[in-house]
Amino acid sequence: MSADASADLSALLSVDEFEAVAKSRLTEMAYAYFAGGSGSELTLSRNRSAWEALSIWYRVMVDVSSRSTATTLLDHPLRVPLLAAPTALHKMAHPDGEIATVRACGNAGLGMVLSSLATTSIEDVCAAATGPVFLQIYIGQDRGFVRELVARAEKANCAGFQLTVDAPVWGMREREMRTGFRVPDGLSLPNLESGGRQIPRDHSGVGIGNALGWTISPSLSWKDLEWLCETTALPVLCKGVCRADDAATALRAGARGIVVSNHGGRQLDGAPATAEVLPRVAAAVAHRVPVIVDGGIRRGVDIFRALALGATAVQVGRPILWGLAAGGEAGVTRVLELLATDFDRTMALAGCPTVSAITRDLLEPSR
Ligand SMILES: Cc1cc2nc3c(=O)[nH]c(=O)nc-3n(C[C@H](O)[C@H](O)[C@H](O)COP(=O)(O)O)c2cc1C
Repeated sequence: MSADASADLSALLSVDEFEAVAKSRLTEMAYAYFAGGSGSELTLSRNRSAWEALSIWYRVMVDVSSRSTATTLLDHPLRVPLLAAPTALHKMAHPDGEIATVRACGNAGLGMVLSSLATTSIEDVCAAATGPVFLQIYIGQDRGFVRELVARAEKANCAGFQLTVDAPVWGMREREMRTGFRVPDGLSLPNLESGGRQIPRDHSGVGIGNALGWTISPSLSWKDLEWLCETTALPVLCKGVCRADDAATALRAGARGIVVSNHGGRQLDGAPATAEVLPRVAAAVAHRVPVIVDGGIRRGVDIFRALALGATAVQVGRPILWGLAAGGEAGVTRVLELLATDFDRTMALAGCPTVSAITRDLLEPSR
């Protein structure tokens, strides 16, 4: 499939093919921002290779003529255990931006996590949603600002929050710096630009992270998670956890879910792949709350692997952006369909008629 402007979405068969088309359509700066990781991008590449390294010891002679990929997440039904991860600036990928994403997720029966650095407001995204929408938030130094954003999300009927905890400072995003990244003219960040706040426009060469330094705080601690959990009745999930002991502490602080994530390899380069972290966190959480994982999920078979390691659901970041850039809502729809059908096919081939049949022993040699 050539990555030309007339790409037939139905001819694209994998997320990698979508990435090739997206790359051909995006500016060099936008592609670098979306694709890049931090430092030497070790964690970025480990995330993906760690899933691929897990063999599936499939079971044969199971009647899989009737199958269901469905699950529930915090009482929300999902057709597949899959959500769109929070990623910034969807209008930089396609003019329809986050509205295209939330519609595609809704039509597929999936959930979406909206980035607080989104180019569409939480109100507009929730109004266009037919599935659950969670809002990702950072806690910076200004608690009043966070309180306002939480109140807006509650009023808009948001399903809950993901507090990102892996960014006390921003990672070293060299690709952003090399391409002189700046938020393109004409795009705004309406979840941040309330109360007269304006993002600095002239931040070419320092990366968006440095320009938005006020959205995060190096003093972030468990007390902030506790505070957020007390501030809202909606569930707060803790996103960016890399250790079993931290997962246990997050639950004591009031988290109603854990997201095993390293920000798609954009924060601490050298962090383990999320596939390495997941089984440890799942053991510590012991089914008390949902465990979500993201990072390097590129095929339905990776969703299967994640569930076998104890995840309740997975999130995908870049695959959504590649779908958006290649074809707006239709592109995201096609990416989600590829992931969903591959997950269903993997379940059939591995002898699992339901998601509850996807167990850890399927990743281990039988005795
Ligand atoms: C372009 C881009 C922007 C992102 N923006 C955010 C963000 O605003 N907030 C956040 O918590 N995570 C953000 N992330 C991290 C994602 O939520 C998610 O953890 C990661 O993309 C998962 O890895 P994957 O892209 O390999 O699926 C971003 C990731 C990318 C690639």
